[in-house]
This record gives sequence, C-alpha cells and structure tokens, in this order.
Amino acid sequence: MQKILDQISDKMMAAFEAAGYDRELGKVTLSNRPDLCEFQCNGAMAGAKRYHKAPLVIAQEVAQKLENSEVFGEVSAVAPGFLNLKLREDFLKSYLNEMEQSEKFGLTMPEKPQKIILDYGGPNVAKPLHVGHLRSAIIGESIKRICRYAGHDVTGDIHLGDWGLQMGLIITELQARQPELVYFEEDYTGEYPQDAPFTISELEEIYPTASAKSKEDAAYKAAAMEATFKLQNGVRGYRALWQQIINVSVADLKRNYDNLQVTFDLWKGESDVHDMIPAMVEQMKQDGFAYESEGAWVVDVKEETDTKEIPPCMILKSDGASLYNTTDLATIKDRVANYDPDKMIYLTDKRQDLYFEQVFRCARKTGLVKPETQLVHIGFGTMNGKDGKPFKTREGGVMRLENLIREINEEMIRKIHDNAETKGYQVDDREAQETARVVGLAAIKYGDLSNQASKDYIFDMDRFTSFEGDTGPYILYTIVRIKSILSKYEEQGGKLTDIVIKEALNPSEKALMLELTKFHGMMELSFEEIAPHRICAYIYDLANAFNRFYHETKILTETDEEKKAGWIALLKLTKEVLEVCIDLLGFEAPDRM
Ligand code: ARG
Repeated sequence: MQKILDQISDKMMAAFEAAGYDRELGKVTLSNRPDLCEFQCNGAMAGAKRYHKAPLVIAQEVAQKLENSEVFGEVSAVAPGFLNLKLREDFLKSYLNEMEQSEKFGLTMPEKPQKIILDYGGPNVAKPLHVGHLRSAIIGESIKRICRYAGHDVTGDIHLGDWGLQMGLIITELQARQPELVYFEEDYTGEYPQDAPFTISELEEIYPTASAKSKEDAAYKAAAMEATFKLQNGVRGYRALWQQIINVSVADLKRNYDNLQVTFDLWKGESDVHDMIPAMVEQMKQDGFAYESEGAWVVDVKEETDTKEIPPCMILKSDGASLYNTTDLATIKDRVANYDPDKMIYLTDKRQDLYFEQVFRCARKTGLVKPETQLVHIGFGTMNGKDGKPFKTREGGVMRLENLIREINEEMIRKIHDNAETKGYQVDDREAQETARVVGLAAIKYGDLSNQASKDYIFDMDRFTSFEGDTGPYILYTIVRIKSILSKYEEQGGKLTDIVIKEALNPSEKALMLELTKFHGMMELSFEEIAPHRICAYIYDLANAFNRFYHETKILTETDEEKKAGWIALLKLTKEVLEVCIDLLGFEAPDRM
C-alpha cells in the first residue's frame, strides 16, 4: 500500500502539472501548524523564482485544480504562498480500512530483502550479567524485530566473550582451589567427568577474586596468561574445563535472557573463530597489509581525511597472542563465508566507537568484506543513576541484572495493588505478580528504548514505572483500556468482525485517525535509521490521541449502533497497531493491570 504522504503528494503533483508547473513542486509534508491544517505543500514558494510569479498566485492556481479532489477536503492558498491542506473524511476512513485489511497494515516490503547479521548481547562468560549488558540486549532485540518486520533476513548472534584472559584467570583460580581435579593431570587420557566441578554462583565469585588477585600478584597473573595460552593452544584438560565453564555459564545466561524475552539465533563466541586466525593473519602479512611494530603485528587504518588520530589495528600481540580485534576480524571473515551478509550491525557501549572504526577499516582494507557490505556500529550511551553517574546498587556496587528486575517488579506490584484499590476491584497476589512481570519488563525496555540509543539516560524507577507520561506502563494501560472496551462491546452482543471504520465525526476522532496513518512512514524511518526510539515516540503520540478521543466520546453507551461499530473498528485498529509496535520493542500487554 502506498504511504499516505505519497498518495496525497501524487494528487498534488498532478495539480501542479495541470496548472502548468513542474510536478516535482507538489510534494506534501506533514503540517508544521497543526492548528491550521493537517498537511501542507510549499511548492508554490519554491516555484516563484523559477516561474517569475508571485507564490500566492501559483498556490491559488493549483488550489483551483483541486476543487473537486477526492482526497483533499480543504485546500487553501494562504499568504505568502503556502497550500494548507485537510483530508476528506471519506478518503481517510478508506485509507484506514485498507490498512486494517492489509498484511502488516500495508507496509511496503523490499524487492530484495537484505541479509543482516546483528551482533548484540555480547556477554562475557563467567561474569555475571550486569546492567551494562542490558542495553545491548534490549536495543539489539528491538532492532532485530524491526528489521524482520521491515521484510529483511536477520540473524542475531550473541558473540560471547569466551576466549580471553578471563578464562585463564578462572582456570588458574580453580587450580589453586582444587589442584586434585583431573583436568589438571597432564598425562590423563581418559574421559572427563560429565558434571562441572562448580556451580554458577561459585563461578561468579571465582572470576572477581581471580581478577583482583592478578592485579596484585604478578606471578598469579603470569600463571593466568599461561593458562590462557594453554587453553587457546588446545591442551586437553584445559579445553574440557573451559567447556564446563561455558556450559554452566550459558545455561545461566539463557535463563536471564529468557526473562528479558531476548533470544538469539546463534550462540557463537570469540572462541569459534580461533582456528581461522593463523591463516587470516598470514594472508594479511602476505598481502603487505600487516607489518611488524615493536614485536606486534599491526595494520595501518588511518586515512588522509581523518581529523582525529586513528591508531593502527593490532592483530597479534608481541607474544603471538590474538586480541579482541583479531577475533572480531576473523568473525567477520567467518560471517562472510557462511552468510554473505549485506549488512552487519554491532551493538555495544559507545566507548567502543573507535575500536569498531579500526576493525571496520581493517576489514575493508584487507578485503575481508566486499566494498558494498555495510558495517555499522551502534554505540549506545550509559545508563546512569539519578546522581548522573553510571547506575549502581544502593551500596555502590555493580547492579546485577536480576536484582534490577526484582526491584522493578516489586515497585510494579505495589502500583498494581494501588491502582486496583482506587478502581475498586480485587487482584490476587498471583495475578499481581504475573502482571508486574509483564509491565515491569515494559517499564525497563520502554525507559531505555524511548531515548535515542547514543544518548546517556537516567534510570528513574519512579518515572519508568508510572502509569502516566511517556512510559511503558502508560502505553500498556492504554492498550488494556482498549481491550476492555472491546470485550465489553462483545459482551453487549457486538461483533468485532465485519465492522468498518466510518468517517470521523469530531476533531479528536480525526486526529486519532491521522495518527494511525503515520504508521508506514514511521516504520520506514525506524528501519532506515535503525532507531527503535521512533516507535516509542509514535506510540506515545498515538496513545495520547486515543486517550483524548476516548475522554471526549461515550463509546459503549452510544445508541446509534452504526456509529458505535465504526468507533469500535477504529479502536480495534488502534489496538492492533499499538500491539505490533510494542512487540517490535520487545514487550507485550497484559489483559488487565
Ligand atoms: N564481549 C564484549 C564486551 O563485553 C562485547 C562484544 C561485542 N561484539 C563484538 N563483535 N565485539 O565488551
């Protein structure tokens, strides 16, 4: 289905042409004076110079051609030469009924879907998930859903941090604590035990302990580096122990991501490309891209147009060990070989901006990707506490994701009980808990996604969980309200099928209808800009438009059944659009709250 702005621009262009002017002047935009009109066209202003005519005269001539338009109910040429436009009610209702009938509300699908690899989440094995990982997961999940809805072929990869020094640290600490473990027996050739010699909570305690020790004790650090080296070079016992760490950690990660309703198609990690590294590095040397610098191997990636210093990309350390860089480059090579993507999108904290700039340049320069392959890094800002500093627990420690979710849920349960009390109905604890889980997740995700990703934002528990304002719970509350009207309509004997939207009868109804027509343009933008915040801004406007209409209109007590059915059809479309949008943001609405 053609976007509304395109449909009406076509009519305007035809009018410009009929009046003897270039049709390109007929582009219609949203009104920037909504008090005066719904849409506007500034083409007469642009044409004035070219045609040596007063813009108002051109505007008047064009307006005349639109006197019996089936699209515009009002076309006024106003000084100094704008065309102020209002849509015909019957055109608007037909547009919405067509939207309702069409797959994805008539969103245009790409002729050739893009193949996209989305790299998000990026947790590090054996380190507890903390709020820093929250943004990558939340934004990434939403981007995945947006790209898929836009008709593209997306593969989401978690890209586990599972190969660095942290693995060596854990192994070293385990050896110090349990030297008798069979994994450390050099000559052992038998099978290794099925069960891991630690639990997830032990694992999570081991890493910080080992990391702290290595900072104070040089010998300990050397041992950890040695263990990392042995692991990476395939020492059997180390590999087996490493596999146990992965198993225990991944099981825990899955549980956490499930709670967030975040899923991945691939659970690959840095370790998966280990074997590809020697050949890749060798090729870069042979092709003359990599050269030795102070014992390390580097590739220059600076360009003449750089305004800031872009250091070379280091691909091997002086001890021959690979780096974060190296695994990322090899991962690009692996993804190209296995998926041949048109685009790769990476989501991390924006502190990795320079890092990805180096990696992408290196990948292009060394021919790991085709020139037309798009490499995109979306660097997001920090989630801060109310004091403006990175979010911490009340005691000042790192906030674990699980605890954050628990705190939000407790706050939500309180609000749900309060709300039920003021409304005078009963909720039992189980229902309140279940609803709190759903609404709490919406509070967290909307609170995050409604900000432009690159910006820092303040995690404000009170505001995020509020049922009013630009919040997730407000959006859900609106959906719940519509659901309740629709089910009451059905209880009254009404049917939700075979109803159609009618011509708007008052300004708030028309405003809601106009808001619905913006869906297509908004979705296109949110895909092009890879920007979930566009969806948040849209549904906030849509929810507001609905609530204004709702407060001015007695829907269920309307005695004119035709009229009532038309409103119900409008509500139904509003609900469906809102539900699709929140699904794209990664959350859902309960039946009541
Ligand atoms: N594990 C990394 C970190 O915690 C993030 C990984 C992002 N993805 C990538 N391909 N580098 O910083």
